[in-house]
Amino acid sequence: MTTKNAIIMAAGKGTRMKSKLAKVLHQVCGKSMVDHVLTQVEATHMNNIVTIVGHGADDVERALGARTKYAAQTEQLGTGHAVLQAEPLLKDADGMTLIVSGDTPLFRAETFEELFEYHQAKGAAGTILTSDAPDPQGYGRVVRNHLGIVEKIVEQKDAGEEERKIHEINTGVYCFDNQKLFAALHQVTNDNAQGEYYLTDVIQIMKDQGDVVAAYRMADFDESMGVNTRSALATATKVMQRRINEQHMEDGVSIIDPDATYIDAGVKIGADTIIEPGVVIKGKTTIGEDCFIGAHSEIHDMVIEDRVRVTASFLEDSIMHQDSNIGPYSHLRPQAEIGEHVHLGNFVEVKKAQIGARTKVGHLTYVGDATLGKDINVGCGVVFINYDGVNKHHTNVGDSAFIGSNSNIIAPVEVADHSFIAAGSTITDDVNFHDMAIARARQTNKPDYWKKLPHEKENM
Ligand code: UD1
Ligand code: CA
Repeated sequence: MTTKNAIIMAAGKGTRMKSKLAKVLHQVCGKSMVDHVLTQVEATHMNNIVTIVGHGADDVERALGARTKYAAQTEQLGTGHAVLQAEPLLKDADGMTLIVSGDTPLFRAETFEELFEYHQAKGAAGTILTSDAPDPQGYGRVVRNHLGIVEKIVEQKDAGEEERKIHEINTGVYCFDNQKLFAALHQVTNDNAQGEYYLTDVIQIMKDQGDVVAAYRMADFDESMGVNTRSALATATKVMQRRINEQHMEDGVSIIDPDATYIDAGVKIGADTIIEPGVVIKGKTTIGEDCFIGAHSEIHDMVIEDRVRVTASFLEDSIMHQDSNIGPYSHLRPQAEIGEHVHLGNFVEVKKAQIGARTKVGHLTYVGDATLGKDINVGCGVVFINYDGVNKHHTNVGDSAFIGSNSNIIAPVEVADHSFIAAGSTITDDVNFHDMAIARARQTNKPDYWKKLPHEKENM
């Protein structure tokens, strides 16, 4: 087997993004562009992967971790100079080297494999991956001679009027014979419009020395798209969004309006789940089978089991066990654990709390820092008061308790199994098994109060 090496160029600043963040760390569907690239490169089973880092090097290394080796490019003198920084790590390697930019997030591993095959079949020293751009503005153009053989690549800024009319572009992905690549890179100069060392010049250098240079033209331009601006980032996100949604639909998920459904890369969804328009699903979320995710729900880092119904709610970093439901207009904050068949109705907020099976919290309630057992009924407008201004305190409520509407439960307090809290109570002390707690002012009625009112006196 031929040794396969890969170099990912990710040192550039991305001036056109006008951002404090290194360009390659901008996200497409919840994952940085360079991570998308690395993920696809990994799928081609490389022997060595080197990422060239410069701008935001620490951030890029933190984002990608030990999945790749790193070579520093302290000054960004161009893509040719970038690749040369990998020489100390790759100079003894045989075989071929794939080069990809960190700002082309849509490439698929299958395309890299096709490039390897073509490169090997042609016995080439270097093969460029090209595509036909509807609008080639900003890309390097592929110049072919009258026989259709690649002569060179001309950058936008160096291109003459005729060359600018060429629609075949350099995608920025290449496959090279590793040894020949570094030999040629030493001959690249910065004599061009941008004063940079262009990697693309390697093509002409190889040709001039009689090596075979090939070009593999891929069918789908969208996949090769480079992101240099915020506008291109939005376009790339649209393409990725469509790709992610198509995959879920193929796996048996119903997505009512894929153009209006935003699902991050890496989210898992079971078959026969239905997702309505305007839904946003982010991070490490997993959703089971036969769920219903209603319009305008936003879901972050959640575990949602089978047959859960979510209606127009905001859920983060929590678990909903099977057959539970929530909403409309409710909020799970981090560390909520919602038991099987639990019903959470409208305007309910739950934070750092466990709610046992079949418990109902129907309306206008805050449950924070609490453990609720099974089969509890929590009335309307109940507040678990967890904060004394300095510390948070915890409340436990036992199985089958009944908490009347508009009660305040001031933590820390223990409410036992099968106990009752009368509506409107402010509970500060524990409630025992089978007891009822009532903690509110007793009602007094003033007889004939009506007659004491001024207008009544005038009529008398
Ligand atoms: C490059 C190609 C162009 C191609 C396009 C495809 C060159 C000279 N041009 O242009 O032919 O059509 O990609 O998207 O290669 N980088 C470094 N160090 C540097 C400069 C760049 O690591 O000194 C990295 C950037 O972070 C980026 C990648 O290389 O990930 C490409 O650089 P960029 O400046 O975006 O090149 P383009 O102008 O898009
Ligand atoms: Ca680019």
